[in-house]
Amino acid sequence: MSSHGTPIPMTARKNGPLKGTAAVPGDKSISHRALIFGAMAVGETKITGLLEGEDVLDTAKAMQALGAEVVREGAGEWTVHGVGVGGFTEPEDVIDCGNSGTGVRLIMGCVATYDFCTTFTGDGSLRKRPMARVTDPLALFGAQSVGRSGGRLPLTLVGAADPVPVEYQTPVPSAQVKSAVLLAGLNAPGKTVVIEKEATRDHTERMLVGFGAELTTEKTPEGYNKITLTGRPELRPQVVAVPRDPSSAAFPVCAALIVPGSEVFVPGVSQNPTRNGLFITLKEMGADISFENEREEGGEPVADLRVKYSALKGIEVPAERAASMIDEYPILSAVAAYAEGTTTMRGVKELRVKESDRIDAMARGLEACGVAIEEDQDTLIVQGLGPNGVKGGATCATHLDHRIAMSFLILGMASQEAVSVDDGGPIATSFPVFEKLMTGLGAHVVRGN
Ligand code: S3P
Repeated sequence: MSSHGTPIPMTARKNGPLKGTAAVPGDKSISHRALIFGAMAVGETKITGLLEGEDVLDTAKAMQALGAEVVREGAGEWTVHGVGVGGFTEPEDVIDCGNSGTGVRLIMGCVATYDFCTTFTGDGSLRKRPMARVTDPLALFGAQSVGRSGGRLPLTLVGAADPVPVEYQTPVPSAQVKSAVLLAGLNAPGKTVVIEKEATRDHTERMLVGFGAELTTEKTPEGYNKITLTGRPELRPQVVAVPRDPSSAAFPVCAALIVPGSEVFVPGVSQNPTRNGLFITLKEMGADISFENEREEGGEPVADLRVKYSALKGIEVPAERAASMIDEYPILSAVAAYAEGTTTMRGVKELRVKESDRIDAMARGLEACGVAIEEDQDTLIVQGLGPNGVKGGATCATHLDHRIAMSFLILGMASQEAVSVDDGGPIATSFPVFEKLMTGLGAHVVRGN
């Protein structure tokens, strides 16, 4: 169910090869940040290619509630009149971030160093997710919070009246935690430092530099990333062209790989090395993907992808790669079911605290479709059945998780019998045109069972 609606069952079944161009929407991570940094700059930021999914629209509303002017000028074209660092005002009502962990955690960082009070909530999925990973470091700046047990939403954050800068090593590999600390550091005096053991997506760092902040990233002697931000900068408004989302591109790319005879072109996809782990993994599995016209757009490396149906083999995905493909394990586990041999995904325990417990959701749904699975807290192992080996014929539970819903629908595009999901509504959080785009390529995906 979307945060606002009743469940929308959906079904996919085999329907001949997929052909054509898949122009996927803008990157979700960059879209959130474009609105947030625009709101913190002085003057007018122009954004093109913004993802108009529910998650990002909730962040737009939150920026308005904090005092910025956010206007939709046309499809994907938005302007933000920022209030400057230090310029946010206390929101009059609860901030509802819907389904979005990124939205809520980044915005908590934004307000943690302001002398006012903000209450956050979200949908049934977001209210289950851990927030202490963000409120703990924000407390070091002087912010206080009270939430439900386990620090869960709804939660009220009392920002620090007199913030102090912080040095913090993130205990889990999380770009949301890193970004929350950096965002809080913007309105603290002096230098805020974040150290991360494993590199996570670096959009916050790239964009902060683009907006004129003084920020450096260096390696520690142990090989960790050390990010240093000088607080209270004057951020300059920017023109932000949001590249297409590699995490959304993953769905038509993977569909083309498993549906016989397919050839799909996916233009302008971000190839940021902190995001491209899935493409490296698919190549290792034998995928025929070519990267054409490699270039830079909006401060990010991008390429056009050409993908052809491929005979895939199972592989061991190294734990060190997890952060660079953290959102892609659900679709990878669906693709792995069509490979010859076993695919082992290690170091993936963070999947248990995403929009759903993604290890459990994929394991149960794949089993229902005839695929053998092994799992432990930090590992998912899929026994591939080869092309045409997946039975399907089940309805999979999606637990308010967009990526689980899309992964099972893609699975159903090559299985012997149709695959249904109990609720495709959350797909609108990140990929509102999924159904239209996949149908346009020739897939059979419909509402209902
Ligand atoms: C995101 C970070 C990741 C990712 C999420 C987007 C971001 O979450 O799963 O979809 O934009 O910073 P974690 O920070 O929890 O790993």
